[in-house]
Amino acid sequence: MRRIFVESLLVLFICFIVAVFAYEWLVYGITTDYEFLLEDYEAMAHQQLLQNIADNQGIEAAKSAMQQFSTQTEQLFTIYHSVAQLPASVATALNQSNPTRIFFDDNRTLWFKLTGYAAFFSYTPDSQSIIRAKVELENNLFLIFLAISFVIFGLINIFLIYRRVRLLEQATIRFAQGDLASRADTSGSSSLGTLNRTFNDMASRIMHLVESNRALTNAVAHEMRTPIFRIQWQAELLKETALNSEQMSTIQEVIADTEEMEQMIDELLHYTKLENSGQRLVMEKFDLSALINRAKHRWQKERRHNIALDIRFNSSKVFVIADKKLLTRALDNVIRNAFKFAKSKVRVVCSEQNNHIEIFIHDDGPGVDKKHKTHIFEPFYVADQARNKGVSGYGLGLSIVQKICEQHRGSITVSDSEEFGGALFTLKLPTS
Ligand SMILES: Nc1ncnc2c1ncn2[C@@H]1O[C@H](COP(=O)(O)OP(=O)(O)OP(=O)(O)O)[C@@H](O)[C@H]1O
Ligand SMILES: [Mg+2]
Repeated sequence: MRRIFVESLLVLFICFIVAVFAYEWLVYGITTDYEFLLEDYEAMAHQQLLQNIADNQGIEAAKSAMQQFSTQTEQLFTIYHSVAQLPASVATALNQSNPTRIFFDDNRTLWFKLTGYAAFFSYTPDSQSIIRAKVELENNLFLIFLAISFVIFGLINIFLIYRRVRLLEQATIRFAQGDLASRADTSGSSSLGTLNRTFNDMASRIMHLVESNRALTNAVAHEMRTPIFRIQWQAELLKETALNSEQMSTIQEVIADTEEMEQMIDELLHYTKLENSGQRLVMEKFDLSALINRAKHRWQKERRHNIALDIRFNSSKVFVIADKKLLTRALDNVIRNAFKFAKSKVRVVCSEQNNHIEIFIHDDGPGVDKKHKTHIFEPFYVADQARNKGVSGYGLGLSIVQKICEQHRGSITVSDSEEFGGALFTLKLPTS
């Protein structure tokens, strides 16, 4: 935004400078300057008048008229008695063949001659004169005022556009951060053409799509629960009847599959519930080390026997304000992943910082490839599916953890564990 502002201002200045030069070139360069032409005519008339005075009343009367005229018009009057005293350009201009007998040099000094007399005369504008200084100042002031008004006009224009773009930008940022209800103001004083309305239409469509998607997932998950339960129940009944060993193993596979489907639906329902911003958190202050020590027994039972679980606390009591159930679920998901991927060891480290706590979960598994790091928190994303066959689940676990962290104003990140060589997941939660 600031860049657009500075660029617009720069363009404005360049336009102004170009306009001034273009004006100079047009008026003084390629066309006749009528102001100078008029001055030439006045000078010629003046010279003729003086010629008449000199011819009728003598040169001295003419000189005194010149003196009087120059004094009254704030000019310096000079007499040159021979051509040798004149600057070369003036001498050439006032040669015998010049019928007008006048010449203005670059400083607007008027040089002239009277026929029949050897002397040359000049009127130079008196730069010390107060009136001339004021005229000069007025001319400059006009230019300064023109430049200032140009800049003020440009600034106001840029500010008005900047303000509107900023409002629209804020609405888009809020939308991008997940506030699907964010809309741009469409009142005349805040909108940028039809852009605000177009953004609002687009936002409404996206919101509608996302909401219908959520509703559909929720409905499908709910609806599938009953038939799955029925299949499971019927398979259990069938298991009680007289079956040969092959039939029995098929039925057991059916039961295992339905259990897996049930688990997946549970996770899906949990995810859609978390996605729903209306979900209320039951916040309470508790000691995280106590919660982890309790969960430790469950985790010990869940892990494969060859995996060593090591839990460390950097301070004796680590208090957090969080929803106990959700935080337990988040930790379960990350630790279960670590158990799935670790070769032989998993370490959980809790550390209290200034205004937040950090929970590090290290494992010595294959780690998460760089290309997957930004995606593993997306729902249904399973990295290296072929390689992790039998290990990977539905790809919902980490997206649930991320949602829980966000709801607690915290975060979860993944990196490489320097200690164990596998993955390192870091959960950050504010303590107040
Ligand atoms: N500790 C880990 N080491 C290596 N890869 C991991 C680790 N944890 C997660 N991943 C990768 O991230 C992917 C997503 O994890 P996530 O927990 O979301 O899904 P999942 O474990 O496959 O399924 P679910 O948790 O839903 O049963 C996993 O499929 C896996 O590829
Ligand atoms: Mg998982």
